[in-house]
Amino acid sequence: MSAELPVPPLAELRRRSSAKWRTHPPDVLPLTVAEMDFALAPPVAEVLRAAVEASDTGYSAADAGLGAALAGFAARRWGWTVDPTAVTAVPDVGVGVVELLRTLARPGDAVVVSPPVYPPFFDWVPEAGARLHEVPLARDEDGGFRLDLPALDRAFAARPAAYVLCNPHNPVGRVHTPDELAALVRLARVHGVPIVSDEIHAPLVLPGATFTPLLSVPGAAEVAVSVVSASKAFNLAGLKCAAVVTAAPATAALVHRFPADARWRTGHLGVLASVAAYTEGGAWLDRLLATLDARRTQLGGLLAERLPGVRWRPPDATYLAWLDCAVLGSGDAPRELFFARGRIALEPGLRFGAPGTGHVRLNFGTSAEILDEAVGRMAAATA
Ligand SMILES: Cc1ncc(COP(=O)(O)O)c(C=O)c1O
Repeated sequence: MSAELPVPPLAELRRRSSAKWRTHPPDVLPLTVAEMDFALAPPVAEVLRAAVEASDTGYSAADAGLGAALAGFAARRWGWTVDPTAVTAVPDVGVGVVELLRTLARPGDAVVVSPPVYPPFFDWVPEAGARLHEVPLARDEDGGFRLDLPALDRAFAARPAAYVLCNPHNPVGRVHTPDELAALVRLARVHGVPIVSDEIHAPLVLPGATFTPLLSVPGAAEVAVSVVSASKAFNLAGLKCAAVVTAAPATAALVHRFPADARWRTGHLGVLASVAAYTEGGAWLDRLLATLDARRTQLGGLLAERLPGVRWRPPDATYLAWLDCAVLGSGDAPRELFFARGRIALEPGLRFGAPGTGHVRLNFGTSAEILDEAVGRMAAATA
């Protein structure tokens, strides 16, 4: 068996009915929404097949083993000790973050986010009745992105209701360092600002980088809550299962204030699949990471060769590439050009906030052939 995970042929992928494959006309190649093209991890597919076979499609049981499975995975992968009883299943990361913000923010309170960032962050804050306060990421000299700690210090001094951290950070693929996270925790403690850490991309940290769970940082437990999921790394977004993780009584109390009915809303198949992914999916995940590492290298070569004006910094995590296409125009002009002339769909940069001007986000969770075709279409669009 080769090290790389196989991807079904394009004709087969186009028979999928999920958002990635049904949003655009059939002549458009979609490298948009964060769904991957690889087949499911065998242990995950097996548990889902068995559930369907047994018509086991009811509600998720109160203790379905998610906490223990996640705790085992977190210990093996990151040396992070998670108390299984401090893990609360939620339907997805969005629900987890919004419910946490509802408990933390009063109507109109500020909640800080750092664009460019995953677009729903801009929706989750108002959904919880709060107001956005943007503190953009800072730029390094080499074009990389990192948390702007001095600017966060100033923003936290005004006592916002929370900071929503993206760790690793979508769309730039930044894995925040232990020192940065320690400094962030210090700011949170000094100013009394709770942190909600969206760690959905944590299992997708690529070779060369190391993930630091925020709750493993000394002093974080009292001020931070994490929201995790197997859904990005194992392609389970449609099955609806994520988890809120706490590590101190004060933050566990926030979760106890979630609506009483919430526990019935998590997908039973999602819980089954997540438990299988966490307990038996390690070998498949390693192959996925090796495959994504190869795609990342391939993309670098393709861009240098065919789109030399496009600038990027290879991500440390995720299968998402944040491409600076300012050479092709500002705003979402590059995305429109690629779409209209290349028949390739990419995520428009402005969706990620104002710093996304002139950018597109490309999903490289696919085969070498499809990635090659994608960059070929992009290059043709600019010819
Ligand atoms: C940073 C981030 N958070 C959350 C999500 C969505 O998670 P969910 O579908 O569990 O709400 C995504 C999806 O790509 C994401 O990139």
